[in-house]
Amino acid sequence: MDGNGRWAKRRGLPRTAGHTEGEENLAALVRVAVTRNVGWLTVFGFSTENWVRPRTEVRHILGLHRRLFGRVEELNQLNVQVKWMGRPFDTPGARTPKYVQRAIRKAVADTAQNTGMVLTVAFDYGSRAELVQAALDARRDGEIVSESSISNHLYLPELPPVDVVVRTSGERRISNFMLWQIVGARVYFTERTWPEFGAAELDAALALAAS
Ligand code: FPP
Repeated sequence: MDGNGRWAKRRGLPRTAGHTEGEENLAALVRVAVTRNVGWLTVFGFSTENWVRPRTEVRHILGLHRRLFGRVEELNQLNVQVKWMGRPFDTPGARTPKYVQRAIRKAVADTAQNTGMVLTVAFDYGSRAELVQAALDARRDGEIVSESSISNHLYLPELPPVDVVVRTSGERRISNFMLWQIVGARVYFTERTWPEFGAAELDAALALAAS
């Protein structure tokens, strides 16, 4: 969800205002995605590298995650199931504060019965960390390291292969996101910032996925 900061800067607003708008746009986009019968929507909310941002910005983004995970009533109305993926909270180096952990656990539990779209939020997520962990866990379980044992030990092995990756705000590169899962995916690039990413853009990305 790139470009929250740029969206704010262009309007003479602080970066935090861009993140707030980004969270609201995600809630709006989830409502649109449901009407388009999207099965799985996975968003990169906060990376393992994002902790180095200024403290006030990090705190603000954490608060927005609490707000997003707190939208349980809305998600239940939409029949959306929430999942989280990221460094397990007890991993050395993991820094997810308790209040975010609680919000994540509650949202996951309180939407688990929903049968519609699966919204996965990657928080404190990095693909390389995920792959290292998967290899370690496979070895711990006495398995030989292979494509299938790694696939089975990803944070969320049930996530299907990705059909389309969306990169907003003119970013034309792949980042540390779902590197294992995106093999073969289409990539939809747009100049629009994340807060400007709406229904028409989603439709264009879905059309690319289907092409
Ligand atoms: C990128 O914009 C966005 C983030 C670092 C993550 C935060 C995302 C949100 C708050 C959107 C809502 C999502 C959730 C899950 C609450 P940027 O800061 O990189 O902007 P820039 O590229 O313009 O600097």
